[in-house]
Amino acid sequence: MTLYEKRLLKGGETRLDADIRNDPFPFYRALREQDPVYYDPGLDLYLVTRYAECVEVLADNETYSLEHGYQDRYGGEYLAEFIAILERDGGGFIRDLAIDPPAHTRLRKLTEKAFTAHRVKELEPRIHQIVIDLIDRVAGQGSADGMIDIGCPLTAHVICEQLGFDWAEVGAEKVAVWSKAVLDQIGRMQDREAMLENAAQMCELQNFIIRNVRLREHAPREDMISDIVHAELNDDANPRLSFTEQVSTIRGFLIAGNDTTAAAIGNLLLILATQPGLADRLYTDVDNDRVMNRFVEEVLRLAPPVHGLFRTAMKDVVLGGTKVPAMSQLCVMYASANDDDTKFADPRKLDIERTNLGTHITFGSGIHKCVGMALARMEIKLTAQEIIRRLDNIQLAVPVEELTYLPTLASHTLERLPLTFTRRAG
Ligand code: HEM
Repeated sequence: MTLYEKRLLKGGETRLDADIRNDPFPFYRALREQDPVYYDPGLDLYLVTRYAECVEVLADNETYSLEHGYQDRYGGEYLAEFIAILERDGGGFIRDLAIDPPAHTRLRKLTEKAFTAHRVKELEPRIHQIVIDLIDRVAGQGSADGMIDIGCPLTAHVICEQLGFDWAEVGAEKVAVWSKAVLDQIGRMQDREAMLENAAQMCELQNFIIRNVRLREHAPREDMISDIVHAELNDDANPRLSFTEQVSTIRGFLIAGNDTTAAAIGNLLLILATQPGLADRLYTDVDNDRVMNRFVEEVLRLAPPVHGLFRTAMKDVVLGGTKVPAMSQLCVMYASANDDDTKFADPRKLDIERTNLGTHITFGSGIHKCVGMALARMEIKLTAQEIIRRLDNIQLAVPVEELTYLPTLASHTLERLPLTFTRRAG
């Protein structure tokens, strides 16, 4: 990958524009250099694009609220109708984990209980087996879609297994539909028809989760749903998660852990397919944990699955020289921060020896930093290893310019990734 061409902002550009969406890095660079806290007229929010200001916003939870950035926007302009449908058919309008302290502090401590080193370690052999089975199955086919045949089914299966959902009952398609229904609420691009369809899917998802929670209340199992249902804090005032908190946490894990990790695997395959010789070089080091960990980390920096998430300015502020009025929405562009050449030298280059590799903000920064990142890293590394072990001559089956991304601001997820490859001779 080389440095993209410099472009001049004309004013009025929006991240919604399909050309920008499908190739946003030249736009991010122009913003960082010419208007680092840019008012996007199509989205009615400020895009924060330099590393320094992204970290500044993420570190200051009082000035920049997370809570107002999310569920206040659920349902788009149809929030009241959306709430009514969920209350009538879906067990309630259940808010998610995206809240500010002090409520967040308590919830975060409780949800961390589901991500203990013990649980993550315990999941590894089973995740590995799912990865091996899937990659081995596609290896002999000669071609596959990196998202539809690999990334999406793999992560959907893994997250269902982690949580304790019955994979045979759910399946990849259902997880994809449920994920889209929830993600559309923060993606900011849904019309009324889409809102109605998404609301119906969210009702189905919530009812499914509620059934699973009820089953574990009196009969816990060795899975994350049971961990969440029975998580305890040494805090007499708030010993347990309430029922709706349990449901929203499980819904959050299902969605946050699915699309993001699928997008990461798609990006990883795209990088292997477009950097000749890379897979062969990695093959010689495939059992070397240091090399593989750094490779995964650099892929996450270079091609973050989540491009931006939201905050609300709770008072008038000046950020990066721009006046931002109270109650404005901001989108913290993690992807642009990771691409900031004042922080990462030659940022478009894949360089696994970067000394500051660990400072990327793909998983966020501050108190909301991704709670599932150990799990995500493990899953992506196991997948990278099995792809490199089993697939050779990975190539794009279409010109790179023809690849498109899902129409959402939050995640940067390939719609399709047609690939050809051969099975690597042992
Ligand atoms: C490559 C995969 C992933 C990426 C790139 C990613 C990215 C992120 C980011 C950027 C945030 C910060 C949100 C903010 O500041 O507003 C976050 C938070 C979160 N992530 Fe992840 N995530 C990934 C995988 C996962 C997995 C596997 C899970 C769970 C199964 C998960 C669960 C969560 C939760 C619950 C939060 C909210 C934490 C809080 O507010 O305290 N994520 N993630």
